[in-house]
Amino acid sequence: MAEINSVADLSRDGDIAVLTIDSPPVNALSAPVRDGLHHGFEKAVADPEVKAIVLICAGRTFIAGADITEFGGARKGASLFAVQEKMEGSPKPIVAAIHGTALGGGLEVALCAHYRVAVPSARCGLPEVNLGILPGAGGTQRLPRVVGVEKALEMVTTGQHVAASQCLEIGLVDALAEEGKLREGAVAFARKAVAEGWPLKKARDLTDKIAAAKGHPEIFTAFRTTNARKFRGFKAPEYNIRCIEAAVNLPFDEGLKTERTLFAELISGPQSAAQRYYFFAERTASKIPDVPADTPTIAVKQVGIVGAGTMGGGIAMNFANAGIPVKIVEVKQEALDRGLKVVRGNYERSVKSGRFTMDQVDKHMGLISGSLDLASLADCDLVIEAVFERMDIKKDVFAKLDAIVKQGAILATNTSGLNVDEIAGATKRPEAVIGLHFFSPANVMKLLEIVRGAKTRKPVIATSMKLAKTIGKIAVLSGVCPGFIGNRMLRQRGAQTQKMVMEGALPWDIDRVLYDFGFPMGPFAMGDLAGLDIGWVPERSKGETIRDVLCEMGRRGQKTGAGYYDYDENRNAKPSPVTEKVIHDFIVKSGANPRGISDEEILERSIYPMINEGAKILEERIAIRPSDIDVVWVNGYGWPVYRGGPMFYADQLGPERVLAKLRHYQATAGDAFKPAALLEKLVAEGRKFADLNKES
Ligand SMILES: NC(=O)c1ccc[n+]([C@@H]2O[C@H](COP(=O)([O-])OP(=O)(O)OC[C@H]3O[C@@H](n4cnc5c(N)ncnc54)[C@H](O)[C@@H]3O)[C@@H](O)[C@H]2O)c1
Repeated sequence: MAEINSVADLSRDGDIAVLTIDSPPVNALSAPVRDGLHHGFEKAVADPEVKAIVLICAGRTFIAGADITEFGGARKGASLFAVQEKMEGSPKPIVAAIHGTALGGGLEVALCAHYRVAVPSARCGLPEVNLGILPGAGGTQRLPRVVGVEKALEMVTTGQHVAASQCLEIGLVDALAEEGKLREGAVAFARKAVAEGWPLKKARDLTDKIAAAKGHPEIFTAFRTTNARKFRGFKAPEYNIRCIEAAVNLPFDEGLKTERTLFAELISGPQSAAQRYYFFAERTASKIPDVPADTPTIAVKQVGIVGAGTMGGGIAMNFANAGIPVKIVEVKQEALDRGLKVVRGNYERSVKSGRFTMDQVDKHMGLISGSLDLASLADCDLVIEAVFERMDIKKDVFAKLDAIVKQGAILATNTSGLNVDEIAGATKRPEAVIGLHFFSPANVMKLLEIVRGAKTRKPVIATSMKLAKTIGKIAVLSGVCPGFIGNRMLRQRGAQTQKMVMEGALPWDIDRVLYDFGFPMGPFAMGDLAGLDIGWVPERSKGETIRDVLCEMGRRGQKTGAGYYDYDENRNAKPSPVTEKVIHDFIVKSGANPRGISDEEILERSIYPMINEGAKILEERIAIRPSDIDVVWVNGYGWPVYRGGPMFYADQLGPERVLAKLRHYQATAGDAFKPAALLEKLVAEGRKFADLNKES
């Protein structure tokens, strides 16, 4: 690149100037890019032979957004506002030519052009909300003026990427150019604008699409109500809405001020810190220090699954959706039929919801076949076992698979927490064995814990990580330990919530505290939803726990109309006097005195042991880095992303505070709170968990 600076070039096509930005990989708005834009427009405007200016980008995309690595640091170079002023104030029409994605700051720049042209494959959006912020460069003020209030609200609160054809429909782009011929298309468009003397359309001056909403707060109230569940706990969606409201009701420059004030508050607040951290955490999870990106992988063209139960069917759908044929093996025909019926039912529901067409479903179902014969899996490149959670059965299945499945294939187990090395030991090829821990429902949940055994070969790990991407999962690598990362930490929380009930806290109090913290539901409501009788065997029940007694009474969760809670016909939960009496009787029998437990104690005793367990998981090198633990909890267990994840949350609280509280509870509530050595060490050294992320 030349002419303007290292990333910007100004050329001429007759009387049309073409300003090209070329700053790989995504033309983010770094200081040189902002400088390039500023000087480029300045020069083109000053050139008397130029009649109009096209802004276009080289490489795979238009300006994809802000340079996120600049956040929080000192800004250099031209400010984005100066660039935007230059554009909007240009006496010559500016046409933004969009390919790839124009997101965030990228779209905010494009919104300052007088016209926008895009290729059909392009997409536009303001995804800031997903980082806990709002478009802080006029996006919330210009967008509603261009696309209207309703569409703007939707775009800024979901962060959705809108396809070019739809952008055309809503007025976000003015014309489509032929794929691969964007430059020609945009130059022709600009030439036409000049020839026909089109006005300089400035988004800031448009009012026709917002006028009707002015003085109608009920439009915004209704939008908030409709989305209340989705936005619960998050600050950014509300602030984005307020900005759109300001755009409607205030003069442009006043609206900009509102946007700036609210942006400043969000960007310096804890939620956006958490969400920006989390954005990188997910991307980092795929990096495994000793399994480099060039590790060879195994081609997976045919997948086998053993067991067509709750998990087997869901797992099969993932592969079928990605176009990979799957064979499912069961022990009995009825079980196989039932399993395949559930899969079909799931697919039919996804047609109703609009996710798939009937044709797609037929295609996907056509890729799934069933068999009662393990030998039919001989040619599979990957076999995933999803039979009952019993070591003896799993070992038996793996010994048989070892004898049947071709060499070079991957043998995986979906165990929720059994010892993968012991399972691998049932084969003569433990190096081919790995854990692929899907979460329920397996066709929906994003998380995949990949469990590396002591002998697992690197290509087996690399293939699993790659495959996770193919089927749309977010993978986190775990070592072998009971429960792996997620369930191991969950157990700590479970033990404390049960214990607190025996001390006098009621299930709905605990659920309320955790719900208010941001979990989609508390552990007792969750138990009722899953069924309290999972893993409960009537013949062996001795009424020793509250759950035993509830199950014996037929209170087995939502499906029986009662569990910890009572349920009405619409499955609305109500605290249950019956459960309360059962709990009371238990406490009396134990000889304890029930006491009131504060919300603060409920929260701390639920969360701090998880953090402590996370520290042990790091100490034992079960997880590679703290952020991986956070990815597990946000994706697999409903930890609110605006709190980053348990390890990030610990840093926000301050490791010394967590340590002090653990010591306090160790004295009052027992050794389950004994602080992990790693936490002690971090505090002694004045460091945080985040420092360990940098080391990995
Ligand atoms: N359900 C969950 O939420 C969940 C989540 C993650 C992991 N898991 C794990 O996934 C595995 C399966 O769990 P699930 O909930 O799907 O159980 P499930 O009881 O619903 O299904 C197990 C299926 O395996 C079949 N089966 C048993 N032995 C077999 C054999 N030798 N050959 C072929 N099929 C056989 C059974 O007939 C049954 O249909 C377990 O290891 C479990 O821990 C379950």
